[in-house]
Amino acid sequence: MEKKVTKIGVMTSGGDSPGMNAAIRAVVRTGIYNGLEVYGIMRGYSGLIENDIFKMDSRSVANIIQRGGTILKTARSKAFTSPEGRKAAYNNLKQHGIDGLVIIGGDGSFKGAQTFSNEYDIPCIGLPGTIDKDIAGTDVTIGFDTAVNTAVEAIDKIRDTMDAHDRLFIVEVMGRDAGYIALHSGIATGAENILIPENKTDIEELICSLTEKEKRKKLVNLVVVAEGGEYGDANKLAAIVKERIPSADVRVCILGHIQRGGSPSCEDRLIASHMGYYAVESLLIGRHNVMIGVVNNKIHYTPLDKAVKEKQKIGQEWMKIVKILAS
Ligand code: F6P
Repeated sequence: MEKKVTKIGVMTSGGDSPGMNAAIRAVVRTGIYNGLEVYGIMRGYSGLIENDIFKMDSRSVANIIQRGGTILKTARSKAFTSPEGRKAAYNNLKQHGIDGLVIIGGDGSFKGAQTFSNEYDIPCIGLPGTIDKDIAGTDVTIGFDTAVNTAVEAIDKIRDTMDAHDRLFIVEVMGRDAGYIALHSGIATGAENILIPENKTDIEELICSLTEKEKRKKLVNLVVVAEGGEYGDANKLAAIVKERIPSADVRVCILGHIQRGGSPSCEDRLIASHMGYYAVESLLIGRHNVMIGVVNNKIHYTPLDKAVKEKQKIGQEWMKIVKILAS
């Protein structure tokens, strides 16, 4: 018979994302409601290895639903990639009697959870917490909505000054391997060109489109580029554009980490609360080693090994729409 969980641990791992606190709150309160002991693990796998673990109660998560960042802090742990690191983590869990883990993070964090759950008998549940929205098995991730709205708000401001000066602006947004923030914020701000890591950039086509727009007296041009793309270094791209179109008045803005901070949107708070609740429900009914996602507005479970293997694919029809709408 399946052993019932009695004590669970919760951690945030990898890059933080707005809404992680709301997810922690949901895990802690759902756990306590169901009679479980809940432990907070500081700095993700690093805190697990270093035994930085403490017992939480309902009040530990008071007044955090609206806060960005993560009260449990976060880290990317190199030590956890080694068998010795994972052994130390396991020993610490055993010492506290923790028999279930909730990991809020991105694909790197899920890889760690998958390896760990293969080696040790600790059920793990992953909650997709990443602004990049690049995880398969879910339509949404905790933090994407806030991040993309932060980018949109910033680009709208850039547009005002860009328009006043008839300039060509290259705005770099986050997304090391994923173009979702670039695609969504670019479409929402009427970008003329959007460059994403998933697609090969045809620089000649880009130059051609910008030159052609100049000829048509379309003086304002917005290029949104994801940091991880081929031309993700916006300053390098600007240098190429300046060289090829000397008449263009080019400026660059790199939005950077402001996209990761800030108070989570209503949508992210809801996603986080929903997923946090189902993380605990899953542990209680013995559904183990899955990532909780939302597909077509319904909770969806993806085995962790599948979640780490696949990436969410970009809808290519959007790229066509971008061209038409920016003409
Ligand atoms: O994973 C989210 C993310 O914000 C990526 O988009 C970005 O490339 C990376 O994290 C930045 O990481 P760091 O905060 O370590 O610079």
